[in-house]
Amino acid sequence: MRLILLGPPGSGKGTQAQRLVQRYGIIQLSTGEMLRAAVAAQTPVGLKAKDIMASGALVPDEIVVGIISDRLDQPDAAKGFILDGFPRTVPQAEALDELLKRKHMRLDAVIELRVNESALLQRVETRVAEMRARGEEVRIDDTQEVLTKRLASYRQLTEPLIHYYSERRKLLTVDGMMTIEHVTREINRILTAIGAVETKGAKAAAAKRTAKAAKPAAKTSKSAAKGAGAPKKTAKAYPKAGKPAAKGMKKSSRRLPASSKARAAGKPRKAAKKVTKKRAKA
Ligand code: AP5
Ligand code: MG
Repeated sequence: MRLILLGPPGSGKGTQAQRLVQRYGIIQLSTGEMLRAAVAAQTPVGLKAKDIMASGALVPDEIVVGIISDRLDQPDAAKGFILDGFPRTVPQAEALDELLKRKHMRLDAVIELRVNESALLQRVETRVAEMRARGEEVRIDDTQEVLTKRLASYRQLTEPLIHYYSERRKLLTVDGMMTIEHVTREINRILTAIGAVETKGAKAAAAKRTAKAAKPAAKTSKSAAKGAGAPKKTAKAYPKAGKPAAKGMKKSSRRLPASSKARAAGKPRKAAKKVTKKRAKA
């Protein structure tokens, strides 16, 4: 699964990314976290980023694109990743498209967490209190003054990505004003509906169908050995199964095509059925 979490500061990108990491065992790539680590380690990138981050502005595109490019080259990224806080500008999104194309990787979805601006300050203040309680160093940009600047950067440079990914039919919007637990549930529903992940039930159903199809196919392969020329792999005729479409998915963002809806409902494609019947007869 390859996913982007998009949303203003304090919308819950980091919180939800962590939950996805735990559930699906894929990595979280947070440019904010990577930059903070670079600042703490006083690397050349950290030295360049420090004052920019403290002011609430965005670090130059070439720096963050370089960080992400290096990170995507590492073996643990092959299994999938959640991008949290990247891309943040249209040039970053274009650079990511190029990187993924070169690596023959496809993005599954961009999930936008939509939150009222009035709720963000309270959330950031909560985070400050939580970090203090854990004895952690508070983020230098978690003040009302810097948050106002971060929000301005978001509106000006990051919000255009909503249109960018909507045009590419990748955008799915979730109401980020719900509780953390509800947001997680909606994200998981969406991921299942688009076929980015499989539920246990769907996996079992798919395995059952594959096993059913395997019997007549085995007979067919025997005749194939005699020269009948039957196809060898029948399992591929069956698509992934999933759950019905996500409730929290906004209609304007993305519609599932009829074939995907059938798949989401756990039904095999009609054409696939026919093929298998023919094979069974052969
Ligand atoms: P970054 O670290 O990415 O910060 P951000 O985008 O400003 O977002 P936050 O981390 O503040 O919020 P979040 O959405 O992760 O919310 P969280 O889950 O923590 O970037 C920092 C800086 O680095 C940037 O300003 C920039 O300078 C630089 N940078 C980073 N990436 C860059 C890039 N690509 N290009 C250029 N510059 C870049 O939640 C916040 C709080 O709310 C928590 O307390 C949480 O418990 C709570 N909460 C979460 N969800 C809910 C909910 N549903 N209900 C109630 N409370 C909730
Ligand atoms: Mg974050």
